[in-house]
Amino acid sequence: MNEIAPFEQFSEATADSCARAPIGLLAELTHRCPLQCPYCSNPLELDRVNQELTTAEWQDVMRQAADLGILQIHLSGGEPTVRKDLEQIVEVAAKAGLYTNLITAGVTLTRDRLKALQDLGLDHVQLSIQDVDDANAEKISAYKGGLEKKRELGKWVREFSMPLTVNAPIHRHNIENLPNIINFAVELGADRIEVANIQYYAWALKNRASLMPTRAQVLRSAEIVEEAKERLKGVLVFDFVVPDYYAKTPKPCMGGWGKGIINVTPQGRVLPCHASEQIPGLEFDNVKSKRLADIWLNGQAFNKYRGTSWMKEPCKSCPKAELDFGGCRCQAMAFTGDATNTDPACKFSPHHAEFVAAAERESANPNPPAFVYRRLGGAKSGAETE
Ligand code: FES
Repeated sequence: MNEIAPFEQFSEATADSCARAPIGLLAELTHRCPLQCPYCSNPLELDRVNQELTTAEWQDVMRQAADLGILQIHLSGGEPTVRKDLEQIVEVAAKAGLYTNLITAGVTLTRDRLKALQDLGLDHVQLSIQDVDDANAEKISAYKGGLEKKRELGKWVREFSMPLTVNAPIHRHNIENLPNIINFAVELGADRIEVANIQYYAWALKNRASLMPTRAQVLRSAEIVEEAKERLKGVLVFDFVVPDYYAKTPKPCMGGWGKGIINVTPQGRVLPCHASEQIPGLEFDNVKSKRLADIWLNGQAFNKYRGTSWMKEPCKSCPKAELDFGGCRCQAMAFTGDATNTDPACKFSPHHAEFVAAAERESANPNPPAFVYRRLGGAKSGAETE
C-alpha cells in the first residue's frame, strides 16, 4: 500500500459547517454484480475488477473509519458478496467497533457464508428486491430465479435472528405491485422496508423515460404506504422515499453535502455522494494516497458545497437553506447543467416547471423505451441484447 501522509488540521470554516465525523460510510467494495438493474446507482463508467482496492486496503479503510468516529459501515457494490474477501473485511470492521450492514441482492450468498459472516460480526442485512412477480423481477434484473434465492436468504436471516431491511426500488414497472411487495417483506420477517421511489441519477437517469411512474400512481402508492404503516405497526417499519419529480420541495440530499455520509468507490475514490463524479470541477482524493480524515475535513470535493456559502438565489435567502441545503447538487447538475443551481425539485427553481413536465410527458407514454441494462463495458438497450 502507498505511504499516506499525515493530514493537516481543518480550518475553522470547515469546523463550522460539517460534523467532525460522518455517521456512515458507504463502502462500494466492487461494481461487479450478477444483476443488471436499469436504475442502478453506480456510475455509467463502472470500475473493473483489476482497479478494486485490495483486501488490506479495504481493511485499512475500516480501521480509519472507526478512528474518524464513523459508526456504521454499509458494505455495498455492485454486489459485495462477489468479493471473496468479504469475511476478512467484515471481521476487521466489526473488531474496530463499526456497525456493519450488508447491502445485497441476495442471489449469491449461501447459508454457510451468511452464518460465517454473522460469526465474524456482521450486524444487519439489507436485501434489495426488484418485484414479487417472478417474470417481472427477471425482466427488471436480467437475472433468472432471483426471487426464489431472496426467499431463501430471508429464511436464513430469520433463522440466525439477524435484523433485516427490504429495499424495494419503486418505478413504473412494479408500482402497481406495491401491496404485494409489502406483504413479501412481512412474509420474509423483515423489520423494515424502504419503499424507495427511484431517484434519477446514473443508470436511472439514463432509463428515466422507461421508469417514470405517473403522478396518480405515486399518490396512490403513498396512500398504500400510509395504510400499511397503520396496519403493520409493531411489525414493519416503513421508510418512504418520495420521487423528486412530483415533489414541491427538495430533499436534504445526503443530509447535506459533506455533513454525514462518506462514500468510497471500488478503486478507493472518496466521494461526498455516490453520484458526485458527474459534477465537473470536483477533485476526488483516493484512500491510497490520503487519510480518510484528511479527505473528509479538507478534501476539495467535500468542501465545495458544504454549508450554505456556495449558494445562489433563490436558495441563498431561503429560510429553509439550512434545512434542505438547496436539495441535491447532482440533480441540479444533471437537469440544469450547474451544480450551484437550486435543485429543480424545488418549486422556487426556475427549472421546476420543465422538470415536472418531463415526468408527466414520459410517464404518459404508453410505449416506454426498452431498458438500457447496467453492465460493464457499455450500455446496451434491452432490444439490442435480445
Ligand atoms: Fe449527489 Fe444528491 S445524489 S448530492
